[in-house]
Amino acid sequence: MTPAMTKPDVRFQEVLDRLSSMSVENYYNPYRMFEWPDELPGDMWWMSPTLTTTYGTDIAEELTQEQLRVLSRYESINFYSLNVHGIRELLIEVTKRIHTAEFAVPSRFFHHFIGEENEHMWFFAEFCLRYGAKIYKQPRGGAETILPPNAESLLVFARILIFEELVDHFNSQMALDKDLHDTIRQINRIHHQDESRHIAFGRELVRTLFEDFRSQATGEELAQVGDYLKRYMSFSFESLFNPQAYRDAGVGKPLEVRRRLLEGPRRPEFEQRVFRKTLSFLAKNGILGDKDHVSPHRRRPRPALSRSGSART
Ligand SMILES: [Fe+2]
Ligand SMILES: [Fe+2]
Repeated sequence: MTPAMTKPDVRFQEVLDRLSSMSVENYYNPYRMFEWPDELPGDMWWMSPTLTTTYGTDIAEELTQEQLRVLSRYESINFYSLNVHGIRELLIEVTKRIHTAEFAVPSRFFHHFIGEENEHMWFFAEFCLRYGAKIYKQPRGGAETILPPNAESLLVFARILIFEELVDHFNSQMALDKDLHDTIRQINRIHHQDESRHIAFGRELVRTLFEDFRSQATGEELAQVGDYLKRYMSFSFESLFNPQAYRDAGVGKPLEVRRRLLEGPRRPEFEQRVFRKTLSFLAKNGILGDKDHVSPHRRRPRPALSRSGSART
């Protein structure tokens, strides 16, 4: 049982009340909200170039501008597909907890959260199916990891926060990119607006859950949590590099392209930038020892984790 989740905590309750009111005030009908043209122009960028996985790399120099634009289309379908899968998994976890005694305090906000995420999952899936004719498969991860037994909810909500912050790095930039089609900018803008509430909530919740966990944890258990979250960040980041998207864009040797990009010199800087705010939050609250994210290829290779954190082979 998590004391701060069951006892009324003034600060946490105020945040929840404010965010719940904002959800009510900003409520919109997603099924009427968007313009869905029959098709989007094939000669435009579908993602901001700096957010694509090949930007500033040798691979980009080997491709023509037209190939890079085509690739941005498939990378955008991959990005929205990752959203669909990530949302489905976070909905399962939040729904499991919504009316438990442990999460009585945030229960009301969970209703807004679940409703909004269902709508996000719908418009991301709609985009993929309309303009890519498919949703890419969920990326597969690696093996079991040792975790403290009482850290489950902390890790669930930390994973949700990491996922939402990663997505928001892309949404906030694409919402403002005038070179993108209006429909793409609109989807990214609307999602960014909703996610600002979810991220504000997630930070409060993770901070509170971590304080409770830390009060009873050993040094080794704290290190296990930090290590797990860093590996989860790497796994999430690497899921942006989908060989099937390279293949669909007509890029030769897609697995080799992926490997070269993940081992290349741009990766650490790109990854650090994507997680800049997340790392700073985790380090400031003592959840990670530092805010430098060391890419796994610089360390001994370790198995990746699935988004749900479950064992996958
Ligand atoms: Fe969302
Ligand atoms: Fe969200």
